[in-house]
Amino acid sequence: MSQTLREARKYEEVSGKMIKPQERPVFHLSARTGWMNDPNGFSYYDGKYHIFYQYHPYDCHWGPMHWGHAVSEDLLHWEYLPAVLAPDEAYDRDGCFSGSALALPDGRHLLMYTGVLREPQTNGGIRETQVQCLAVGDGTDYEKYENNPVITAKDLPEGCSAQDFRDPKMWQTKDGTYRCVIGNRPADGSGQILLFSSYDGFAWKYEKVLVSNGDRFGKMWECPDFFRLDDQWVLLTSPQDMLPWGFEYHNGNGTLCLIGDFEEETETFTERHNQSVDYGIDFYAPQTVLTPDGRRVMIGWMQNWDTCDFRAQNISWFGQLSLPRELFLQNGRLYQRPVRELEALRRNPVRYDGLSFSGEIRLEGVRGRTVDMELSVSPKEGREIYRKFAVRFAQNDRFWTSLSFHPEDSILKIDRKFSGSRRAIIHQRRSRVNSENGRLKLRIILDRFSVEVFVNDGEQTLTAIVYTRQDADGISFYADGTVCMDLVKYDLSADE
Ligand code: FRU
Repeated sequence: MSQTLREARKYEEVSGKMIKPQERPVFHLSARTGWMNDPNGFSYYDGKYHIFYQYHPYDCHWGPMHWGHAVSEDLLHWEYLPAVLAPDEAYDRDGCFSGSALALPDGRHLLMYTGVLREPQTNGGIRETQVQCLAVGDGTDYEKYENNPVITAKDLPEGCSAQDFRDPKMWQTKDGTYRCVIGNRPADGSGQILLFSSYDGFAWKYEKVLVSNGDRFGKMWECPDFFRLDDQWVLLTSPQDMLPWGFEYHNGNGTLCLIGDFEEETETFTERHNQSVDYGIDFYAPQTVLTPDGRRVMIGWMQNWDTCDFRAQNISWFGQLSLPRELFLQNGRLYQRPVRELEALRRNPVRYDGLSFSGEIRLEGVRGRTVDMELSVSPKEGREIYRKFAVRFAQNDRFWTSLSFHPEDSILKIDRKFSGSRRAIIHQRRSRVNSENGRLKLRIILDRFSVEVFVNDGEQTLTAIVYTRQDADGISFYADGTVCMDLVKYDLSADE
């Protein structure tokens, strides 16, 4: 093991212990210490889920990238393991960027990641190159492959960028061979996803351009993932610098989902549908795993590059991963719901059925900051449709975050403007949701520092970081007009 990795392991162990459990989310994974961005190497290996992450242990800001590591049996209780990769080789000296993992038939765990190298040029500039590298391990310790890098710009057709060439996501096909998709930038300066193949996971060959952006969705496409879902195929990728289209793609850097057909013989993908993956503020660079029982589960970085200056004070970690979410297709769209394992964390159900109200109300037993709350609203029978419904949470006299819904234009808005932020950055996002006659279903999941909203049984999600002080735990409801509401609320607890 290199000195660089040994030092990182020593540092994270000491400094991670100084963070009190109550300074962390309860069931979301946060950086062990310092900075976290993308989830990496999300895989099931040796009886456990493994997740790695982009990691700069020494500081709460992005820096030379390492890979942090955690394992879990239920995707909700995570145990930190020592960091596995540090930028310590000639080909990755400036960072071990994002990548993926899979279990090899011989029982070893294979990681593929992007090595970054920045070289000063005689003209005073810097030339950056990104290459794909492997490491092999046993679930705790990993050794970089002696023949690294295994894919470089030399393997690419003319016009492909050697500088923007990153984030390999591997999988094994039915016949036992391997494929991987990698983000790249072609001559038009926007993004493309390249497909590679391998017989053994070690020797890789360029196949083709799987999908071209053609300047439609942002510029460079980062962190691709490609998989079968039901009878379709899904490409997830996180484009940089997107322009909004109607109510889609408002996040600058957000995640795009392309759904289509994939002809496996010729490896040809035909797009049928595109959509945003999340309609809130903080969600980027997700990665999926296929669980042993056949579910496709996605986890993302619960941040937005543009709002990283919105941060907690006096906490020495930055960055959390989202709830793991089960993916499925319905009505030609990507749907998400929290992994069913979350239900085991539910405690103390509180129920209200057919509650009619106007104005602002609070409900006995409905408060808290680690909460799973399902509610459906509709107009009261025989009355005209209400004008507005809202729920406020993480609330006290001074602070709150809200979700508000206007049935007239079917707009759902998330707003954390009053959550305690002292920065002039984006705190609101409006989304058009499906609603007939003022009917809307929401599942709202709060952990100490986040909210994730699942609209209409997973048709859309809105995710946002919320750093409001923990004693602001009120929840209230508001109706302009008369709303009829069914509600069930649980506390979420990670204690056994
Ligand atoms: C996405 C990303 C990846 C890259 C990593 C670097 O958030 O920019 O493309 O591998 O972060 O930390």
